[in-house]
Amino acid sequence: MNDAAATATLYAMRRNLLRREPVRDEDFDALYPSNVRAASQTFWTPVRVAQRAAMLLAGDRPDIRVLDVGSGPGKLCIIGALTTSARFTGIEQRPNLIAAARSAASRLEVERAAIFVEGEIQSIEWETFDAFYFFNPFMENLYSERTKFDHTVELSRTRFMRDVSAARCKLRRTRAGTRVVTYHGLGHTLPSVFRLEHRERAGSDYLELWVAGAAAARAAEPQRGT
Ligand SMILES: C[S@@+](CC[C@H](N)C(=O)[O-])C[C@H]1O[C@@H](n2cnc3c(N)ncnc32)[C@H](O)[C@@H]1O
Repeated sequence: MNDAAATATLYAMRRNLLRREPVRDEDFDALYPSNVRAASQTFWTPVRVAQRAAMLLAGDRPDIRVLDVGSGPGKLCIIGALTTSARFTGIEQRPNLIAAARSAASRLEVERAAIFVEGEIQSIEWETFDAFYFFNPFMENLYSERTKFDHTVELSRTRFMRDVSAARCKLRRTRAGTRVVTYHGLGHTLPSVFRLEHRERAGSDYLELWVAGAAAARAAEPQRGT
């Protein structure tokens, strides 16, 4: 494909995303380097699922701040930034995935509404967000050696327990009304202050919308991690 054709394809895809119309995953994933593209089916949220998840997280409410916990190459954040008026942040441990996310966001011209922070999930202030997305981010710790994305980060059962516990602990401290959307779950139940408000079939699993209850419900919640 020559440069003019590639630019036209990119703009057509951007326009379809803005209109919440279907976009093929193979077209979106063409924004990424080959190793990131190759992992898409297992590791990244499909476009159609991301479009629905963004609506459940933010809908048409203005000024919502959403955190994608373990954002990979940023599909959820980028699609969310194009389909809602919310601001999306991704926290991701792998520098090459942060680079892929920033590059894709730049090509689709959403750099201001989709921000990517390199680091571990504990390194960001969860209190500043209104909504959280989890595509089963810690499960890779339990995958067989050949199914893991790569071996550049610590992956172990101990880390799985630690990260799930840290995420639940952070969620327990969020404000009433905080929304959590899961795809393939979180690896554990949500803290009991969260109530399941909606569940729908999506991609290879379900999207679930959980909403945090009021402070009274929190007082009854044990303060331990898991
Ligand atoms: C299943 S992928 C989902 C990616 C993205 N949220 C999506 O839906 O397309 C999970 C991602 O979480 C990241 N991750 C896992 N544990 C993490 C941690 N403790 N801190 C930061 N990132 C983490 C992994 O590197 C991986 O990119």
